[in-house]
Amino acid sequence: MRIPFVAGNWKMHKTAAEAVSLVDALFPQLNTLHTIERVLCPPATALAQVHQVLKGSAIGLGAQNMYSEEAGAYTGEISPLMVKEFCRYVILGHSERRTLFGETDESVNRKTNAALAHDLIPIVCIGETLSENEAGQTANVIIRQVADGLKGIDARLASKIVIAYEPIWAIGTGKAATGQDANQVVARYIRPTLAGIFGSGAAQDIRVLYGGSVKADNATEFFNQPEIDGALVGGASLKAADFIGIAQAAAASQQ
Ligand code: 13P
Repeated sequence: MRIPFVAGNWKMHKTAAEAVSLVDALFPQLNTLHTIERVLCPPATALAQVHQVLKGSAIGLGAQNMYSEEAGAYTGEISPLMVKEFCRYVILGHSERRTLFGETDESVNRKTNAALAHDLIPIVCIGETLSENEAGQTANVIIRQVADGLKGIDARLASKIVIAYEPIWAIGTGKAATGQDANQVVARYIRPTLAGIFGSGAAQDIRVLYGGSVKADNATEFFNQPEIDGALVGGASLKAADFIGIAQAAAASQQ
């Protein structure tokens, strides 16, 4: 059984004070949803303060990115040790990192290995662009991103990995994929590629999330799909009522 997983990627929104206010608004209801894994990913500058608020609760904290080295002359970067001080999770290879900041499958692979080596749970993002989708390249792109991004990882660590399938054309556009189409990408390309790397048993343990214009009113469509284990939420994670609605939909989908 894969435990449902709902994460909010706040992207470059919220000062530390604003982040604490949003966590205060989310906390009472989010804290009651014990049957799902729920994770908040504020900007790096808010991690220390949000960590203080979440301490002792079962609500997880994640960073949105990190570098693969532990320390050194890497201006502007944060290391796995620094993330680990406050977080159990880290988003890696988000499409905005890939398209705007030059991240590649190789850098995502180094970071994923580093995260696992430091006992962090990596949320590895993959997804095709609109033109790749229209050119019938979805399978190739997804299979390559999974295979190259997870190369060399010990199968015993596989169950810690979380994959987020985020078609780039669905991010921030209000045009989500259909639940059925997203499910098919997981069933046909993602899960079989994971099975090729880690074996089919281990591949069954890996949570695969959908991301891209998930809202409280369409979340159930995704959570009802057999291959989709949760959501990585952008815009709707910045509004307490919306994110709580999504998390409640994930909890309800288990019953
Ligand atoms: P939106 O939910 O705003 O489409 O963003 C999705 C996303 O990029 C989450 O990582």
